[in-house]
Amino acid sequence: MSTVKDLLTAKGSSVSTISPQAKVYEALALMAEKDIGALVVVSEGKVVGVISERDYARKVVLKGRFSKETAVKDVMSSLDATVKPSQTVEECMAIMTEKRHRHLPVMDNGKLVGIISIGDLVKSIISNQKFMIENLENYISGAPEVR
Ligand SMILES: NC(=O)c1ccc[n+]([C@@H]2O[C@H](COP(=O)([O-])OP(=O)(O)OC[C@H]3O[C@@H](n4cnc5c(N)ncnc54)[C@H](O)[C@@H]3O)[C@@H](O)[C@H]2O)c1
Repeated sequence: MSTVKDLLTAKGSSVSTISPQAKVYEALALMAEKDIGALVVVSEGKVVGVISERDYARKVVLKGRFSKETAVKDVMSSLDATVKPSQTVEECMAIMTEKRHRHLPVMDNGKLVGIISIGDLVKSIISNQKFMIENLENYISGAPEVR
């Protein structure tokens, strides 16, 4: 069973963050530069929320606000779900489904140590399924097990 720690080992633990006082425009520019869909919002070293492209679409564009005038803190999603490195991919998928988040900050003893996106989970699940199917096919055809 793959864990968050396994995913972070594969993808890296660096996290792009932004201050709650920054303007939404700066957040969008950083997301575009890094080619990612969300930023963790950090205030005085503490994780306080996540701002995503969805927050921008629904709370800025559709509300007739302007990204250069709106602060991140006014449209970010408050922090209501994080995961630990020891949690499994399946547990993360359940949390994302229940909370309707596509990104989860990874916290270890109160410290931000990574971020997991829905794409990371889907990639891991597909690769595990591929591995299982290969082994089943080999078992059926009598070939040795893939390790
Ligand atoms: N090939 C891969 O390894 C891979 C992994 C994840 C996603 N994807 C693809 O990218 C597209 C968008 O992915 P998504 O919806 O999961 O979201 P996304 O674009 O936000 O995430 C893309 C990658 O960036 C990372 N990321 C996101 N926010 C980050 C942040 N603030 N700091 C550091 N890293 C951050 C994610 O963990 C993920 O690995 C999808 O088409 C998905 O299939 C590919």
